[in-house]
Amino acid sequence: MPDVSDRFQTMLAGRYTIDRELGQGGMATVYVARDVKHHRMVALKVMHAGLAASMGPDRFEREVMVAARLQHPHIVTVYDSGETAGRYWYTMPYVAGESLRQRLAREGWLSVAEAVRITREIARALDYAHRRDIVHRDVKPENVLLTEEGQALLTDFGLARALHATPDSTLGRGAGTGAGFFVGTPTYMSPEQGTGEHPVDARADIYALACVTFEMLTGEPPHPGASMEAIFARRLEEPPPSVRERRRDVPEHVDAALRRAMSRHPAERFPTAFSFGQALDAQAADGWTGATPTPPGMPAVPTTPAAAASAFAPATATATATAAMNAESPALLRWNRTLLALAGIVTLGALAVLGAVVLR
Ligand SMILES: Nc1ncnc2c1ncn2[C@@H]1O[C@H](COP(=O)(O)OP(=O)(O)O)[C@@H](O)[C@H]1O
Ligand SMILES: [Mg+2]
Repeated sequence: MPDVSDRFQTMLAGRYTIDRELGQGGMATVYVARDVKHHRMVALKVMHAGLAASMGPDRFEREVMVAARLQHPHIVTVYDSGETAGRYWYTMPYVAGESLRQRLAREGWLSVAEAVRITREIARALDYAHRRDIVHRDVKPENVLLTEEGQALLTDFGLARALHATPDSTLGRGAGTGAGFFVGTPTYMSPEQGTGEHPVDARADIYALACVTFEMLTGEPPHPGASMEAIFARRLEEPPPSVRERRRDVPEHVDAALRRAMSRHPAERFPTAFSFGQALDAQAADGWTGATPTPPGMPAVPTTPAAAASAFAPATATATATAAMNAESPALLRWNRTLLALAGIVTLGALAVLGAVVLR
């Protein structure tokens, strides 16, 4: 078994026995292990050897506890954690499916409906965490696990924050230094995570999730680049790309929502992950025109100036929340009017029948 020592395995053997390796990331190796006491399979994440020294004694436990408090249908919770033979580890439910990364590697890209469903599930998970002041900071396809039933689960909560040397550590200072490990993946990282110009908050996760959605729809992240610097230069200088320019069957409201979520400045994005998820929903989106996909090769229907303006208008949390509510109400009003009209016709019919009976 690579990576973990015999000593580690022996010391852990009363509680967990390692079955096989699942995968490796920048900070840890993940194994399938048997929970000896509870007779169940778990995923055991063992942090790389250097982390124990750089994180400090209580920090790992504290951050794992933050993640363990998160109980949500779309979040992989934490079961147990500890330090054994100088290595930090924690266990979580073993998701017997695949990661979104593996699915994209196999299929290239997903249907609009599937990409929107996965995004909305992860948006709900993020919204739940954000309401508890927890920012993920490393939303990427590797951290989205898909169950055998297709449900999307977000994993690796808390660790991203735990591994920051300082709360505002930037690309330059965070990258591979002894004090802190590089956190976040440039491909999905918000501009402010790279530059350090704004404190990182929930809106960084919204940005990253939108980049993941863009990749689910097109097979490519929004700003591909050969190096971290190249990716960030494009991210800071270019406007958010349009997904419809690459794929015509993506509805306009999805395109507009993604561009807004990937705005350069946090204040221009959605105020909450929930409102981003709602904006992707066909029923909630007012004036949805995506029901009939444009055949491949046809020019993309240009977004109306009004829609484009509202998609990019800088918005305060309150203004955007109101706009989101307003976006839903016209559809509801139309539906109410239809119901009223139907009720009127039925009442008139009943009156006519009654009249005929009485007059006879
Ligand atoms: N709970 C889990 N159940 C099943 N597979 C998992 C679980 N957690 C992580 N994995 C797999 O292990 C791999 C390595 O995870 P990780 O160390 O977090 O690195 P990264 O997320 O950067 O790939 C992931 O890509 C994922 O495929
Ligand atoms: Mg991970």
